[in-house]
Amino acid sequence: MDSPIIEDNFEDVLGKAMRGLGLSANQVAARAELPLASVECLLAGRFEVASARRLARVLDLNGDCLVELAENAVRPSVELPAGIMLHNTPFPVPGYEEMTVNSYSVVPSAQSGEGCLVDAGASFDSILEERAGEVVASNWQFFLTHTHGDHVTNYDALTGKAAQVYAPAEEPYQQAKPVHDGDVFEIGPWKLTAIETPGHSPGGMSYLLQGASMPVVFVGDALFCYSIGKVAADFPRALALIREKLLSLPAETIVCPGHGPLTSVGFERRHNPFFA
Ligand SMILES: [Fe+2]
Repeated sequence: MDSPIIEDNFEDVLGKAMRGLGLSANQVAARAELPLASVECLLAGRFEVASARRLARVLDLNGDCLVELAENAVRPSVELPAGIMLHNTPFPVPGYEEMTVNSYSVVPSAQSGEGCLVDAGASFDSILEERAGEVVASNWQFFLTHTHGDHVTNYDALTGKAAQVYAPAEEPYQQAKPVHDGDVFEIGPWKLTAIETPGHSPGGMSYLLQGASMPVVFVGDALFCYSIGKVAADFPRALALIREKLLSLPAETIVCPGHGPLTSVGFERRHNPFFA
């Protein structure tokens, strides 16, 4: 499957930083000593390097990374280990018809009969289709990173196939069992550890998978390639948790976000405007 297109452009990053810091366009224009019109142009997606760098400075963003994102200069090159698949499916909302959402399936070995799904944007049929020719796990465990609508679209259909269903303890969902920070699950010979990363949603949960050829972390909408998911509440705490709990993982750890392309911990440490 082609890698999904990048979720956030530079103007989305600017908007998220402004909302997170509770600053209006007028306020950031004053702080950056820029005309309001320049700020409005940037927020409308018209890029201009010098103004973007000034705005980055007052929004605690890395200006070099913001420019790199806008200029489409660098993109991560990441491949999932054998046994793990990305399923990218449409979730069109009015005005954002191109919007898609990622789900993931994990099958350590065709013989083990065990596997897991992360999030429910994809239907079971589409997962089977994309795993054509493979024996698909008969004993599925099913994990939600959070319970926003786009991540639970196919929840009912998928729970019917799953032996066990889990949702973050702070975001109870239907009959799903609660998952707490530090809970560990066996996926055949592999290990899945829950890491609480609230901010985008009250109970947001990431899951670190160990045992494949590379460590992989499923982060839902906590972290995107070059960006973060929209933060609903305590913005500084959300950023601190991502830094402490996700960006502290080994650099080679593959990051599987709920939207946009795959990335890695090392790439985001160097290139994400919020953290670099
Ligand atoms: Fe979300």
